[in-house]
Amino acid sequence: MGARKGIIMAGGTGSRLFPITGAVSKQLMPIYDKPMIYFPLSVLMLTGIREIAMITTPEDQPQFRRLLGDGAQWGLSLTYIPQPSPDGLAQAYLLAEDFLDGAPSAMVLGDNIFFGHGLPELLTAADTKDAGGTVFGYRVSDPERYGVVAMDAKGAAVDIVEKPAKPPSNYAVTGLYFLDASAPDRARAITPSERGELEITTLLQSYLHEGTLSVQQMGRGYAWLDTGTHGSLLDAGNFVRTLQSRQGLQAGCPEEIAFEQGWISPEALHALAMRYAKTDYGTYLLGLLAEG
Ligand code: DAU
Repeated sequence: MGARKGIIMAGGTGSRLFPITGAVSKQLMPIYDKPMIYFPLSVLMLTGIREIAMITTPEDQPQFRRLLGDGAQWGLSLTYIPQPSPDGLAQAYLLAEDFLDGAPSAMVLGDNIFFGHGLPELLTAADTKDAGGTVFGYRVSDPERYGVVAMDAKGAAVDIVEKPAKPPSNYAVTGLYFLDASAPDRARAITPSERGELEITTLLQSYLHEGTLSVQQMGRGYAWLDTGTHGSLLDAGNFVRTLQSRQGLQAGCPEEIAFEQGWISPEALHALAMRYAKTDYGTYLLGLLAEG
């Protein structure tokens, strides 16, 4: 088994955010001072993953490439894979099968933003589990918008249902999936749902029903932010702004994580900081160097 590889699912039409996503991908929208995609990318980097596939629509791929390049500036190796039409999240494992080449994966949705003390430890624990998979349940007030965990009397997960009219619990499954190397084979066995998609929940059910899916609680100390509506997108930006200005620390900063992980040298960080010399972001990166 090779080292775990990352997948970021960043396709889709963004139709719920029209007209702002009319010409630019949703996952490139600003979350205050940085593109949305920096946040899920940071999650994979915090897990220690350096080989990452970016799945986007064919039309949006040039913009992602322009922003992120081949990832070498952050010590990463990025592979771009087009998804011609949004046929469902489980399709990611078919599109990325050659890229994965038998390795286990961590897939994160390009519009999911996580923040919280202890996140690296949570990620490491999921990464360390070899067989089966790990997903995270997060309490929300509107579970009917998500994949929802059904639990037995002891709180053990017994099912996952996609956007149920009558949610069996308040626990949504977040868009972060640690799955073993069997995910592509399982995805191949899925048939499209009524809405015509290869559903991630169907893939997760195949693990759950054989007892190999761990559903971890992501507790109230974490923020899992919604970016699905114009209002929640703005709220997410305000959250990040409030946090960053209060703490003087950046959330979702790939340069910082790459530096902390030892993937880029101080000289390389300095060069990156100088690109942003006119911004607080650049000043922050220079500050990291001063702190050593
Ligand atoms: O955010 C977590 C939720 O994500 C989970 O609780 C649900 O189980 C899961 O189905 C998904 O629900 P959404 O309704 O949020 O999925 P949506 O279709 O909006 O897709 C999520 C992101 O993935 C979005 O940014 C677009 C992208 N996407 C989606 C599809 C269907 C793709 O890149 N390709 C696709 O084929």
